[in-house]
Amino acid sequence: MTYQIKPLSCDPAKIKGMSERLIVSHYENNYGGAVKRLNLIDEQLAELDYTKAAGFLVNGLKREQLIGSFERWRSEFVAMGKALGGGSGWVLLSWSPRDRKLVNQWASDHCHTLAGGTPILALDMYEHSYHMDFGAKAASYVDTFMDVIRWNNVQRLFVQTANDRGAAGDTRQ
Ligand SMILES: [Fe+2]
Repeated sequence: MTYQIKPLSCDPAKIKGMSERLIVSHYENNYGGAVKRLNLIDEQLAELDYTKAAGFLVNGLKREQLIGSFERWRSEFVAMGKALGGGSGWVLLSWSPRDRKLVNQWASDHCHTLAGGTPILALDMYEHSYHMDFGAKAASYVDTFMDVIRWNNVQRLFVQTANDRGAAGDTRQ
């Protein structure tokens, strides 16, 4: 399968608190670069002989449960993002089909996501996502990010996930 680069889903000149240069650089260099790399990796994997290739280790998942109110969720999500300042990774709000609830998790790299989970909100804490505008002030970036979240998009993804994954109408806790 060849992955296509999707068009930028926002107007990069209209993200309050983040420069167009930062958003476009992230889109072209990091997202676009990742899609191109993924296609190259797929090509390599297609040629791999699994009977002779060395296995790989999966380092595990870090899951944080969503408990209580929006403010509690928000505090946790923000704290997790700020805790990654100077490090790298993502903070993800994901639907867990196993736990049947939304959870905050951090993903230390591309290999670490909640098993079976569907991310519906992602805070990128790799330096490329903020350094151009915020320098070392990762915490300011997190605060700005929280202010520009398009909650209608998050809701749309959650509803879509609910419909696809059976989250809607489930009363089990
Ligand atoms: Fe990124």
